[in-house]
Amino acid sequence: MKNMVYIQSGGPTSVINTSFYGAIKEAQRHPEEIDHIYGSLHGIEGLIIDDLIDIGQEDEEQIELLLQTPGSILGTTRRKLPKDIHDEVYLKIIENLKKHSIKYVFVNGGNDSMDTCYKLSLLVKELGLDIVVIGVPKTIDNDLACTDHSLGFPSAAKFVINAVNALAMDAKCFQVGKVHIVEIMGRNAGWLSAAPDLLPPETRPQLFYIPERKFDLEQFLVDVKKVYEKEGYALVAISEGIDFPRDTKSMRVDGFGHAQLGGAAADLCHIVEDRLNLPTRAVEFSLVQRAFPACISLVDRNEAIQTGELAVKSALEGKTGNMIIFKRVSSNPYKIELQLCDLSKVANAESKITPSMMVDETRMSDEYRNYLRPLVEGEVTLKCKDGIALMANFKKAKVK
Ligand code: F6P
Repeated sequence: MKNMVYIQSGGPTSVINTSFYGAIKEAQRHPEEIDHIYGSLHGIEGLIIDDLIDIGQEDEEQIELLLQTPGSILGTTRRKLPKDIHDEVYLKIIENLKKHSIKYVFVNGGNDSMDTCYKLSLLVKELGLDIVVIGVPKTIDNDLACTDHSLGFPSAAKFVINAVNALAMDAKCFQVGKVHIVEIMGRNAGWLSAAPDLLPPETRPQLFYIPERKFDLEQFLVDVKKVYEKEGYALVAISEGIDFPRDTKSMRVDGFGHAQLGGAAADLCHIVEDRLNLPTRAVEFSLVQRAFPACISLVDRNEAIQTGELAVKSALEGKTGNMIIFKRVSSNPYKIELQLCDLSKVANAESKITPSMMVDETRMSDEYRNYLRPLVEGEVTLKCKDGIALMANFKKAKVK
């Protein structure tokens, strides 16, 4: 008996379940090689505490709904595994892999989760086990190394662009406007915060602040005042991770060791009110930007399916210790190749916006726009009932 287990890890995206869908569909095409498809509940936790579910028990209709279901259907975790792969926690994982005759392990996650994936691949190799481990990339932050982009980023960018487009129309219509500061996710990388640069001048933010460029509070105030005096309102896009003097002591730290960000727009608005005496509004997209199914990009959806499928095909060919990556062949027309990359190159590395992608705080460069434009293309149609998008609801039958 040979089974597979799928793990979802780190922050969810609106297409993380779509990659899982692709993997399920491909696995179902190989019943002679994969007897059971299991899901590990709450990321690696499920393999540590023996908490697996049998996907074979789920209705096909619910599996189809994975295509439009945000969040991680299997549950997720930000638990960082110990550096030492001989720590007893790994013994538990190995014990459970053996107990359930698992030959194929898939870890769907971002930088920190690829570290988990890499460690697992090293361990099974060291123990000489007949188990393969493959990484499936995702993160709205788009900061995974070695790949053109990460699944989930295109859809989050599509949401952010459309949300800013709409809110700009609202922001512009008052006689006495406000300074609107829009806070966008992305921790240490500004890929997502820069996305509204694709908008036409009428609705584009006049200023952008991303973590890759040093944030100068005094210059920020000068720039905001200038824009406001000229336009009668200001629309400013900031990355949640920009660094300015504020009280960060109360921020919680997650299992991967990252501070839970948020509140930067509100803090900056207070500073603008105090120092410039201008009315403000803080807008924080928060979790909705990584979870909004109506803004799934068709490119993101299709690539997520293909990635899940390729992960299973690669595992069946005996590939291990790799993550699927995207290599861009051309931007216009958009052409991408899916390849495999050694996990050692990906784990814990970070990809950031390069200096040539940003002109200054008012504009990104053509290089960035040409990179982003094809990723956000194409719309999906959602299955709805009473006007509400349907979400997959799994029975989650436990594997004994
Ligand atoms: O996983 C990436 C991410 O979405 C970041 O952009 C963000 O900083 C973080 O997760 C927020 O995570 P949570 O609110 O789930 O702790």
